[in-house]
Formats: sequence, structure tokens, C-alpha cells
Amino acid sequence: MPKPPVDNSSRSDEILFVNVSGVRFQTWKNTLDRYPDTLLGSSEKEFFYNEDLQEYFFDRDPEMFRHILNFYRTGKLHYPRLECVQAFDEELAFYGIVPEIIGDCCMEEYRDRKKENQERLAEDTEANEVTDAPLPPHSTPRERLWRAFENPHTSTMALVFYYVTGFFIAVSVLANVVETVPCGAVAKRVKEMACGERYALAFFCLDTACVLI
Ligand SMILES: *[C@@H]1O[C@H](CO)[C@@H](O)[C@H](O)[C@H]1NC(C)=O
Ligand SMILES: [Zn+2]
Repeated sequence: MPKPPVDNSSRSDEILFVNVSGVRFQTWKNTLDRYPDTLLGSSEKEFFYNEDLQEYFFDRDPEMFRHILNFYRTGKLHYPRLECVQAFDEELAFYGIVPEIIGDCCMEEYRDRKKENQERLAEDTEANEVTDAPLPPHSTPRERLWRAFENPHTSTMALVFYYVTGFFIAVSVLANVVETVPCGAVAKRVKEMACGERYALAFFCLDTACVLI
């Protein structure tokens, strides 16, 4: 075992109490002072000081704070894999920590998750823009038709069409189910007949109509 370091921190340093949503953390003041550009390392944290309880109070997620505090202790920031990347970013932004200092062990994961998230957001806004934006005044009938099929809320006609097609799809599915249900035996035969066989013509017409529509 190496010789224990001479610990004179207890004299030159003081213990700070940090209360994050009711969960209490304790750390050396020197530990926090290592990063003076961040919220906890600077005098900005005095805004959060509670005189009565002699502690700093933050109304933030204590789970995430564990990772933030570990960064001050070890100099390495690790990305908690189970946390949403955006929530983690917001937490870092609150404490004034730049995400660039995430350790190599977690950087790839963090970047991947971030990219995934950005792509998904971009896709969503793009899709919404396409179907929600008002049509340009000189749009072709083809564009208007496409819009009506894509987003039934653009006009009453589109909405009616949406429900009518939905209705016929439902009828078609129901007809397919009923076709297989037994409809009772015909006098001369012992075996029961399925409705589809017994009313073959009616079902054929109904099915054809639905498919045509
Ligand atoms: C954390 O702070 C709140 C609000 O100031 C206080 O009510 C609570 O007792 C504190 N909890 C601890 C463990 O210090
Ligand atoms: Zn890591």
C-alpha cells in the first residue's frame, strides 16, 4: 500500500452541503473550486445558498447530480446511458458544464444518442411542415389532392373522404370475418355451412364494392 497522502484538507478546506431536491450531498469546497467557470465552482452558487439550513439548495434531478458531482471529484464526466440525452444536456447547461468534456468512454454513446435525437426531431418538424403549412396560392390540383389524402384536416371534403374510406375498410374487414362464421345447416346436408358459402353472391358483391372504393 502506498503511504496515505498527508491530508491537511480538513484544516484548509470546508465541507459544503448541497441539497438537490431533498437529497443531501457533501463535498469539499476545494473540489468544487476546481472548475471556476461552472455554476458550482463560481460564486454564482451563492444565489442558491440557504442561510437557515447552511446548505445550497438546487431544485434539480438528484440522480443526474450524482454524475455532475463526480465530474468535480474525478475530472471525468460520464454520460448516464439510461438518461435521455436532452435531459442530460439541460442539466449540464444548468450547471454551466460544456458537454465536450465527456470522457472518451462515454463520448461515442453520447454522440450517437444526440445524433439520433436530432435526426428524429428534424424528421418530425419536416413532416409537420409539409402537411400543415398552408398551400401556396397557385398549387396544382395534383398538389391539392395529395395534401387532402395526406392530411384529412385540410378541408371538409378531405375529412369526409377520410371517414368514408375508413368506413368501407371496416365493412370489408367485417365481411371477411362474417364469411367464416357458420350459418346453420341446410336441410339436406349434415355439415354446417359457412356464411361465405351460403351467401356467396352477396359476399362477392360486397367485397368487390369495398375493394373498388
Ligand atoms: C433540503 O432543502 C429543503 C428546502 O430547503 C428542506 O426542506 C429539506 O429539509 C432539505 N433536506 C435536507 C436533507 O437537508
Ligand atoms: Zn464513461
